[in-house]
Amino acid sequence: MRLFVDSANLRDIETAFDMGIISGVTTNPVLIHKECPENKLKQHIQSIRSICDGEILTQVVGSTAKEMVRQAKEINSWDSNITVKIPLVREGIKAVSMLQKEGGIRTCNTITFNAGQALAAAMAGATYISPFYNRANKDTNCGLQMMEAITQIFRVNALKTKILVASIDKPMDVVNLAMLGVDVITAPLPVWEGLFENTLTDAVLAKFLKDWKGDEI
Ligand code: E4P
Repeated sequence: MRLFVDSANLRDIETAFDMGIISGVTTNPVLIHKECPENKLKQHIQSIRSICDGEILTQVVGSTAKEMVRQAKEINSWDSNITVKIPLVREGIKAVSMLQKEGGIRTCNTITFNAGQALAAAMAGATYISPFYNRANKDTNCGLQMMEAITQIFRVNALKTKILVASIDKPMDVVNLAMLGVDVITAPLPVWEGLFENTLTDAVLAKFLKDWKGDEI
Protein backbone atom coordinates (compact mmCIF):
# COMPACT_ATOMS: atom_id res chain seq x y z
CA MET A 1 0.00 0.00 0.00
CA ARG A 2 1.18 3.55 -0.76
CA LEU A 3 0.16 7.02 0.42
CA PHE A 4 0.13 10.05 -1.91
CA VAL A 5 -0.42 13.72 -1.17
CA ASP A 6 -3.35 15.32 -3.01
CA SER A 7 -2.07 18.82 -3.68
CA ALA A 8 -0.37 21.14 -6.17
CA ASN A 9 0.96 23.40 -3.39
CA LEU A 10 4.75 23.19 -3.42
CA ARG A 11 5.15 23.86 0.31
CA ASP A 12 2.59 21.18 1.24
CA ILE A 13 4.16 18.66 -1.13
CA GLU A 14 7.63 19.30 0.27
CA THR A 15 6.35 18.99 3.86
CA ALA A 16 4.47 15.79 2.97
CA PHE A 17 7.52 14.10 1.44
CA ASP A 18 9.68 15.27 4.33
CA MET A 19 7.48 13.23 6.73
CA GLY A 20 8.81 10.02 5.17
CA ILE A 21 5.46 8.28 4.54
CA ILE A 22 4.44 9.77 1.17
CA SER A 23 5.55 8.42 -2.20
CA GLY A 24 3.47 10.29 -4.77
CA VAL A 25 1.50 13.42 -5.67
CA THR A 26 -1.97 13.68 -7.21
CA THR A 27 -3.14 16.88 -8.85
CA ASN A 28 -6.25 17.88 -10.77
CA PRO A 29 -7.10 20.97 -12.86
CA VAL A 30 -8.64 22.78 -9.85
CA LEU A 31 -5.61 22.16 -7.61
CA ILE A 32 -3.21 23.27 -10.38
CA HIS A 33 -5.24 26.40 -11.14
CA LYS A 34 -5.26 27.37 -7.45
CA GLU A 35 -1.45 27.37 -7.33
CA CYS A 36 -0.84 28.53 -10.87
CA PRO A 37 -3.70 30.76 -12.13
CA GLU A 38 -2.11 30.99 -15.61
CA ASN A 39 -2.49 27.17 -15.89
CA LYS A 40 1.12 26.60 -16.93
CA LEU A 41 0.77 22.87 -16.32
CA LYS A 42 4.13 21.69 -17.66
CA GLN A 43 6.01 24.36 -15.71
CA HIS A 44 4.14 23.55 -12.50
CA ILE A 45 4.74 19.79 -12.88
CA GLN A 46 8.44 20.55 -13.33
CA SER A 47 8.37 22.63 -10.12
CA ILE A 48 6.76 19.69 -8.29
CA ARG A 49 9.43 17.38 -9.69
CA SER A 50 12.18 19.71 -8.42
CA ILE A 51 11.05 19.13 -4.82
CA CYS A 52 10.06 15.45 -4.81
CA ASP A 53 11.12 12.19 -6.41
CA GLY A 54 7.78 10.30 -6.26
CA GLU A 55 5.14 9.43 -8.82
CA ILE A 56 3.19 12.47 -10.07
CA LEU A 57 -0.37 12.23 -11.41
CA THR A 58 -1.86 14.98 -13.50
CA GLN A 59 -4.99 15.24 -15.60
CA VAL A 60 -5.86 15.77 -19.27
CA VAL A 61 -8.49 18.39 -20.09
CA GLY A 62 -9.62 17.25 -23.56
CA SER A 63 -13.17 16.13 -24.24
CA THR A 64 -12.65 13.58 -27.03
CA ALA A 65 -10.65 10.35 -26.81
CA LYS A 66 -8.36 11.60 -29.60
CA GLU A 67 -7.60 14.82 -27.75
CA MET A 68 -7.13 12.99 -24.43
CA VAL A 69 -4.66 10.58 -26.06
CA ARG A 70 -2.70 13.48 -27.60
CA GLN A 71 -2.56 15.30 -24.26
CA ALA A 72 -1.61 12.10 -22.41
CA LYS A 73 1.36 11.58 -24.74
CA GLU A 74 2.44 15.19 -24.28
CA ILE A 75 2.16 14.99 -20.46
CA ASN A 76 3.98 11.65 -20.42
CA SER A 77 6.91 13.22 -22.29
CA TRP A 78 7.52 15.70 -19.45
CA ASP A 79 8.74 13.25 -16.83
CA SER A 80 9.82 9.64 -16.43
CA ASN A 81 7.59 8.97 -13.39
CA ILE A 82 4.28 10.50 -14.38
CA THR A 83 0.78 8.98 -14.60
CA VAL A 84 -1.93 10.58 -16.69
CA LYS A 85 -5.36 11.03 -15.14
CA ILE A 86 -8.25 10.62 -17.58
CA PRO A 87 -11.90 11.19 -16.57
CA LEU A 88 -14.04 8.06 -16.31
CA VAL A 89 -16.49 8.97 -19.06
CA ARG A 90 -17.13 7.17 -22.37
CA GLU A 91 -14.39 9.08 -24.22
CA GLY A 92 -12.02 8.66 -21.27
CA ILE A 93 -12.46 4.86 -21.23
CA LYS A 94 -11.83 4.83 -24.97
CA ALA A 95 -8.68 6.94 -24.52
CA VAL A 96 -7.40 4.59 -21.79
CA SER A 97 -8.01 1.59 -24.04
CA MET A 98 -6.17 3.25 -26.96
CA LEU A 99 -3.21 4.14 -24.71
CA GLN A 100 -3.13 0.66 -23.20
CA LYS A 101 -2.90 -0.92 -26.67
CA GLU A 102 0.01 1.34 -27.60
CA GLY A 103 1.72 0.76 -24.21
CA GLY A 104 4.25 2.88 -22.36
CA ILE A 105 1.91 5.33 -20.62
CA ARG A 106 0.43 4.81 -17.13
CA THR A 107 -3.20 5.91 -16.83
CA CYS A 108 -5.60 6.62 -14.00
CA ASN A 109 -9.33 6.62 -14.80
CA THR A 110 -10.44 9.29 -12.34
CA ILE A 111 -13.72 10.67 -10.91
CA THR A 112 -15.09 7.18 -10.24
CA PHE A 113 -18.42 6.96 -8.39
CA ASN A 114 -19.47 3.32 -8.63
CA ALA A 115 -18.16 -0.21 -9.00
CA GLY A 116 -19.51 -0.58 -12.55
CA GLN A 117 -17.40 2.35 -13.71
CA ALA A 118 -14.38 0.86 -11.95
CA LEU A 119 -14.92 -2.49 -13.68
CA ALA A 120 -15.23 -0.81 -17.10
CA ALA A 121 -11.97 1.10 -16.55
CA ALA A 122 -10.20 -2.10 -15.51
CA MET A 123 -11.41 -3.82 -18.70
CA ALA A 124 -10.04 -0.90 -20.74
CA GLY A 125 -6.65 -1.51 -19.11
CA ALA A 126 -6.30 1.48 -16.78
CA THR A 127 -3.26 1.34 -14.51
CA TYR A 128 -5.38 2.85 -11.71
CA ILE A 129 -9.00 3.69 -11.06
CA SER A 130 -9.68 6.54 -8.68
CA PRO A 131 -12.91 6.49 -6.65
CA PHE A 132 -13.90 9.77 -4.95
CA TYR A 133 -14.72 8.51 -1.47
CA ASN A 134 -16.03 11.58 0.36
CA ARG A 135 -17.84 13.04 -2.60
CA ALA A 136 -19.66 9.68 -2.87
CA ASN A 137 -20.46 9.88 0.84
CA LYS A 138 -21.77 13.44 0.52
CA ASP A 139 -23.93 12.49 -2.47
CA THR A 140 -25.39 9.12 -1.39
CA ASN A 141 -23.68 8.28 1.90
CA CYS A 142 -22.44 5.14 0.14
CA GLY A 143 -18.67 5.73 -0.09
CA LEU A 144 -17.78 2.71 2.01
CA GLN A 145 -20.28 0.47 0.20
CA MET A 146 -18.80 1.57 -3.15
CA MET A 147 -15.29 0.76 -1.90
CA GLU A 148 -16.34 -2.65 -0.55
CA ALA A 149 -17.83 -3.54 -3.95
CA ILE A 150 -14.78 -2.31 -5.88
CA THR A 151 -12.22 -4.07 -3.67
CA GLN A 152 -14.22 -7.31 -3.77
CA ILE A 153 -14.67 -7.27 -7.57
CA PHE A 154 -10.97 -6.54 -8.11
CA ARG A 155 -9.90 -9.23 -5.63
CA VAL A 156 -12.13 -12.10 -6.78
CA ASN A 157 -11.37 -11.43 -10.43
CA ALA A 158 -7.65 -10.80 -9.81
CA LEU A 159 -7.80 -7.57 -11.82
CA LYS A 160 -4.44 -5.90 -12.39
CA THR A 161 -5.76 -2.31 -12.24
CA LYS A 162 -4.83 -0.67 -8.95
CA ILE A 163 -7.27 1.14 -6.66
CA LEU A 164 -6.22 4.71 -5.84
CA VAL A 165 -8.80 6.26 -3.53
CA ALA A 166 -9.15 10.06 -3.61
CA SER A 167 -11.37 12.68 -1.97
CA ILE A 168 -10.36 11.89 1.59
CA ASP A 169 -10.91 14.39 4.37
CA LYS A 170 -10.05 12.70 7.67
CA PRO A 171 -7.63 10.12 9.11
CA MET A 172 -10.50 7.74 9.95
CA ASP A 173 -11.28 7.47 6.19
CA VAL A 174 -7.71 6.27 5.72
CA VAL A 175 -8.12 3.60 8.41
CA ASN A 176 -11.43 2.37 6.95
CA LEU A 177 -9.96 2.16 3.45
CA ALA A 178 -6.73 0.51 4.61
CA MET A 179 -8.85 -2.26 6.18
CA LEU A 180 -10.31 -2.98 2.73
CA GLY A 181 -6.86 -3.38 1.19
CA VAL A 182 -6.77 -0.58 -1.38
CA ASP A 183 -3.49 0.05 -3.25
CA VAL A 184 -3.10 3.81 -2.81
CA ILE A 185 -4.80 6.51 -0.75
CA THR A 186 -4.31 10.14 -1.72
CA ALA A 187 -5.20 12.94 0.69
CA PRO A 188 -4.29 16.53 1.50
CA LEU A 189 -1.41 17.21 3.93
CA PRO A 190 -3.60 17.83 7.05
CA VAL A 191 -5.07 14.31 6.77
CA TRP A 192 -1.56 12.79 6.82
CA GLU A 193 -0.48 14.94 9.74
CA GLY A 194 -3.65 13.92 11.56
CA LEU A 195 -2.81 10.25 10.99
CA PHE A 196 0.08 10.24 13.43
CA GLU A 197 -0.69 13.18 15.69
CA ASN A 198 -2.31 12.12 18.97
CA THR A 199 -2.73 14.18 22.14
CA LEU A 200 -2.32 11.10 24.38
CA THR A 201 1.01 10.28 22.71
CA ASP A 202 2.12 13.89 23.27
CA ALA A 203 1.05 13.83 26.94
CA VAL A 204 2.78 10.51 27.68
CA LEU A 205 5.92 11.62 25.86
CA ALA A 206 5.99 14.90 27.81
CA LYS A 207 5.84 12.92 31.07
CA PHE A 208 8.60 10.53 29.94
CA LEU A 209 10.88 13.44 29.07
CA LYS A 210 10.06 15.37 32.27
CA ASP A 211 10.96 12.37 34.41
CA TRP A 212 14.15 11.58 32.53
CA LYS A 213 17.05 12.37 34.81
CA GLY A 214 19.71 10.05 33.38
CA ASP A 215 22.88 10.72 31.48
CA GLU A 216 22.73 12.19 28.01
CA ILE A 217 22.45 9.51 25.33
C1 E4P B 1 -8.03 13.44 -6.81
O1 E4P B 1 -6.96 13.42 -7.32
C2 E4P B 1 -8.72 14.66 -6.52
O2 E4P B 1 -7.76 15.68 -6.60
C3 E4P B 1 -9.29 14.81 -5.15
O3 E4P B 1 -8.96 13.79 -4.27
C4 E4P B 1 -10.68 15.29 -5.07
O4 E4P B 1 -10.89 15.57 -3.72
P1 E4P B 1 -12.05 16.53 -3.24
O5 E4P B 1 -13.31 15.77 -3.32
O6 E4P B 1 -11.67 16.84 -1.83
O7 E4P B 1 -12.00 17.73 -4.14
